[in-house]
Amino acid sequence: RRKKNRPVRVYMDGCFDMMHYGHCNALRQARALGDQLVVGVVSDAEIIVNKGPPVTPLNERMIMVNAVKWVDEVIPDAPYAITEEFMKKLFDEYNIDYIIHGDDPCVLPDGTDAYALAKKAGRYKQIKRTEGVSSTDIVGRMLLCVRERSVNEKQHHSSLQRQFSHGHSQKFEDGGSGSGTRVSHFLPTSRRIVQFSNGKGPQSDARIVYIDGAFDLFHAGHVEVIATRGAHRPIMNLHERSLSVLACRYVDEVIIGSPWEISKDMLTTFNISLVVHGTIAENSNFEKEECNPYEVPISLGIFKVLDSSLDITTSTIIRRIVSNHEAY
Ligand code: CTP
Repeated sequence: RRKKNRPVRVYMDGCFDMMHYGHCNALRQARALGDQLVVGVVSDAEIIVNKGPPVTPLNERMIMVNAVKWVDEVIPDAPYAITEEFMKKLFDEYNIDYIIHGDDPCVLPDGTDAYALAKKAGRYKQIKRTEGVSSTDIVGRMLLCVRERSVNEKQHHSSLQRQFSHGHSQKFEDGGSGSGTRVSHFLPTSRRIVQFSNGKGPQSDARIVYIDGAFDLFHAGHVEVIATRGAHRPIMNLHERSLSVLACRYVDEVIIGSPWEISKDMLTTFNISLVVHGTIAENSNFEKEECNPYEVPISLGIFKVLDSSLDITTSTIIRRIVSNHEAY
């Protein structure tokens, strides 16, 4: 079936709504099962039918998936289930050898397995799902972050849970107890950081550009400019945010826990020749602040403002979730 010396092409599909490091880790593992990874991003309409409305529309989900460094090609508007017809297209037109999905069950509304045909054809492979993160969990953390002390809180939460639980067994927990969603269940390990990094230092003649930010809920606005600073308490913890940024193909190195103010020492240590910041940011009034965090690079003439092409901040995503709920 497979011609010798032809690269092994693998296909992974998904919704990739509010893209997180669990999705990135799935793409990383999928890519390791072949030479080229083709990703199918499920259409908004198919997600609405199978899971309920996505928070991030297809164009934003496309930007996110395209930005992941293990992705070689992206197919927009992919179907949610692998139909006979689509599978044939994957094999004949896209030269796909294997179809890959996480080891969590993926059931269609009628109770059947979305990958049954691929399994039957002997062209299915599995990767390990990353525990401790999901879009349901992120919505839970967000709600705790913007929590309104309304009488309807319980109702509010349970209806949002239904909307975003996406058929997974993970329960939407109240943050009052220690096991609540407020607490991230992610356990950072040095090996995971190594898996996500490119392991290469810069070439001696490299021009090093530095961009800082909280990168909370790493989203399409971040990818487009690679910058923002959060005003609220972060929803994703430092390690989670670091992994999401590290999975981005435009990023070479991440300083984990960068200082708010950029010091001369830092510029020297990392050999930084340019510091950039986007026009759209959670905190875009930094010039008016008592102490401008970019004072040092500005005084050295190595600071540049980049035009943010997308008007999205972490607050936009939180607002979408809250107002989406109100539309129900
Ligand atoms: N995936 C994973 N680990 C996670 C979440 C997703 O490995 N924590 C994998 C899924 O198994 C799938 C791919 O990422 O192969 C794309 O998943 P997607 O369709 O976006 O969704 P969900 O599994 O519903 O992810 P979430 O629960 O976060 O919505």
